[in-house]
Amino acid sequence: MPVHRIHHILLCLLHMWTTLTSVSSHPQHSICQLIQRTAVCNNGNLSFVPARLPKDLEELQLNHNNIQTLQNSSLLNYPSLNTLSIASKNKLHLGYEETSHALKTLPRLRALDLSENELNDEMIATLLQNLTSLEYLNLSGNVLGRLDETSFSDLHQLKELDLQRNIMYEIAGAFDSNPKLQRLNLAFNYLLCLTDFHTTQLVVLNASHNFIEWFSSRQDLNDTFLLETLDLSDNRLFFFPFLPNHSHLRNLYLSHNNIRFYEHLADNSTLPNSTTTVEFYNMNKYSGNVTAQLWDESIHGDIASLEILDLRGNQVQYFPHGFIQKMPVLSRLQMCTNCLETLNLTSEQFSGSLYELDVSNNRLNQIAADVVIVLLTFKPKMLPMSIKKKCLKPTSY
Ligand SMILES: *[C@@H]1O[C@H](CO)[C@@H](O)[C@H](O)[C@H]1NC(C)=O
Ligand SMILES: *[C@@H]1O[C@H](CO)[C@@H](O)[C@H](O)[C@H]1NC(C)=O
Ligand SMILES: *[C@@H]1O[C@H](CO)[C@@H](O)[C@H](O)[C@H]1NC(C)=O
Ligand SMILES: *[C@@H]1O[C@H](CO)[C@@H](O)[C@H](O)[C@H]1NC(C)=O
Ligand SMILES: *[C@@H]1O[C@H](CO)[C@@H](O)[C@H](O)[C@H]1NC(C)=O
Ligand SMILES: *[C@@H]1O[C@H](CO)[C@@H](O)[C@H](O)[C@H]1NC(C)=O
Ligand SMILES: *[C@@H]1O[C@H](CO)[C@@H](O)[C@H](O)[C@H]1NC(C)=O
Ligand SMILES: *[C@@H]1O[C@H](CO)[C@@H](O)[C@H](O)[C@H]1NC(C)=O
Ligand SMILES: *[C@@H]1O[C@H](CO)[C@@H](O)[C@H](O)[C@H]1NC(C)=O
Ligand SMILES: *[C@@H]1O[C@H](CO)[C@@H](O)[C@H](O)[C@H]1NC(C)=O
Ligand SMILES: *[C@@H]1O[C@H](CO)[C@@H](O)[C@H](O)[C@H]1NC(C)=O
Repeated sequence: MPVHRIHHILLCLLHMWTTLTSVSSHPQHSICQLIQRTAVCNNGNLSFVPARLPKDLEELQLNHNNIQTLQNSSLLNYPSLNTLSIASKNKLHLGYEETSHALKTLPRLRALDLSENELNDEMIATLLQNLTSLEYLNLSGNVLGRLDETSFSDLHQLKELDLQRNIMYEIAGAFDSNPKLQRLNLAFNYLLCLTDFHTTQLVVLNASHNFIEWFSSRQDLNDTFLLETLDLSDNRLFFFPFLPNHSHLRNLYLSHNNIRFYEHLADNSTLPNSTTTVEFYNMNKYSGNVTAQLWDESIHGDIASLEILDLRGNQVQYFPHGFIQKMPVLSRLQMCTNCLETLNLTSEQFSGSLYELDVSNNRLNQIAADVVIVLLTFKPKMLPMSIKKKCLKPTSY
C-alpha cells in the first residue's frame, strides 16, 4: 500500500530529524562519553548539565568543568541517577542554593563527589539537607572549618566520608547522626586534638597530617569499638593515644609525632616536686576534662589485636613495663629514629609472629637476646647529631 509506505518513510525521516536536531542544538552532548548507564562528561568546560542524556542514566561525571549552578530542574529527567561527581575546578560555591534544590530531586543518590569546589560550612549544610540516601560523600579540598552535630544530620545511610584537605579546626559531635559511618578521612586539616572519641562504628579513621596534640577515646563506654585502622601520623602527639578500652585495632600509625612514655615519672623520689598527673581541658564546653596518671598503663587502651605499630620518628626512650606483651599478634614494629637506649628482646617478650623490628637510628648501646626472633630486621646505624638533639631530657608535668 503506497499510503502505508509514505507514512513509514515519514516516520523514519522524523526520527532522523529529531536525532539530528538534538545533537546540533545541544553540542555538549558530544562532550559526554556514554558507557552503559554512565555518562562521562569530564574536562569539557561545561557550565550546565548536558541535556537529553539517556533517561535511565545511573552515573554522571562532570569533573573539571565550569559549573557554578545545577539548575533546579536539570536532573529531574534522571530519576535513576545514583552516582554524581562534580569535582575539581567547578565553582559550586557560587550557585550552591539552587544546586541544593537540584540535588533534592534525586531520590536514589548514593554517591556524591563535591571535592574542590571552595565550599564552606554553611554551603555544605545547605547542599546536604535531606540527602537521606547518601552512602558515599567526598568533600575533600574545600574550605570547611568547623563541623557540628547539624553538619551531616540528614545522612543516616552514610558509610564513607572524605574530608581531607580542608581547613577544619573543630569537630563537635559531627558524626552522631551517621550510625553506619565506617571510613572517615580527616587528613591534612588543622585539628588540635581529638578528644571524647566515641564513634564506635568506625573501621578506618585517618587523621594524619593535622596538629593533634592528644587523642583520647571516651572512657565511660563499655562498647567494643569496630576500629581496625587508626592513622595519626604527622601530628604533634606527646602521649601514646588513649585508645578505646575494647577494640579490635590492628593497624596503628603514629609516625612523626613527639610520643614518649612517662612511666619513670611515677618514681616520686627522683622528681620530688613534680606532679605525676596531667590534666587535659576541652576548651569548647569543658565537658571532656581528663586527668591521666601518666604511669598508669591502662590509659593505653586495648592493643591486644595490634599487628602493625608504626612509631617511626618519635621520642620513645623505653617501652613501659609489660607494654610489648600486651600485643601478642604484633607482626611489624617500626621504631626507627627514636631514643631507645637499651633493648632486651628476652625480657620484652615479643610476639612469636613478629617478623619486622626496625630499631635503626636510635641510641642503642646494648641489645640483649637469648632467643632468636624469626627474620628480624635490624638496621643499627650511627646516629646523626640532628636526631640526637631531638631526644629531650625528661621533663616533669
Ligand atoms: C569556558 O567557558 C566560558 C563560558 O562558559 C568561557 O568564557 C571560557 O572562555 C571557556 N574556556 C575555555 C578554555 O574554553
Ligand atoms: C525551580 O525554580 C523556579 C524559580 O525559582 C521555581 O519556580 C520552580 O518551582 C523550581 N522547581 C523545582 C523543581 O524546584
Ligand atoms: C526535607 O524533608 C522534610 C521531610 O521530608 C521536609 O519537611 C522539608 O521541607 C525538606 N526540606 C527541604 C529543604 O526540602
Ligand atoms: C576524594 O576526592 C579526592 C580529590 O578528587 C581524591 O583524591 C580522593 O581519592 C577521593 N576520595 C575517595 C575516598 O575516593
Ligand atoms: C591517610 O590519608 C593520607 C592522605 O590521603 C594517606 O597518604 C595515607 O595513606 C592514609 N592512611 C591510611 C592508613 O590509609
Ligand atoms: C576504661 O579504662 C579506663 C582506664 O583504665 C577506666 O578508668 C574506665 O573505667 C574503663 N571504662 C570502662 C567502661 O570499663
Ligand atoms: C562491660 O562489658 C562486659 C562484657 O559485656 C561486662 O562483663 C562488664 O560488666 C561491663 N562493664 C561495665 C562497667 O558495664
Ligand atoms: C607519689 O607521691 C604521692 C604523694 O605522696 C602519692 O600519692 C603517690 O601514690 C606516689 N606515686 C607513686 C607511683 O608512688
Ligand atoms: C620543692 O618545693 C619546695 C617548696 O616550693 C622548695 O623549697 C624546694 O626547693 C623544691 N625542691 C626541688 C628539688 O625543687
Ligand atoms: C574542666 O576544667 C575547667 C577548667 O579548670 C573547669 O572550669 C570545668 O568545670 C571542668 N569541667 C569538668 C566537667 O570537670
Ligand atoms: C634480659 O632479660 C632477661 C629476662 O628478664 C634477663 O635474664 C637478662 O639478664 C637480661 N639481659 C640483660 C643484658 O639485661
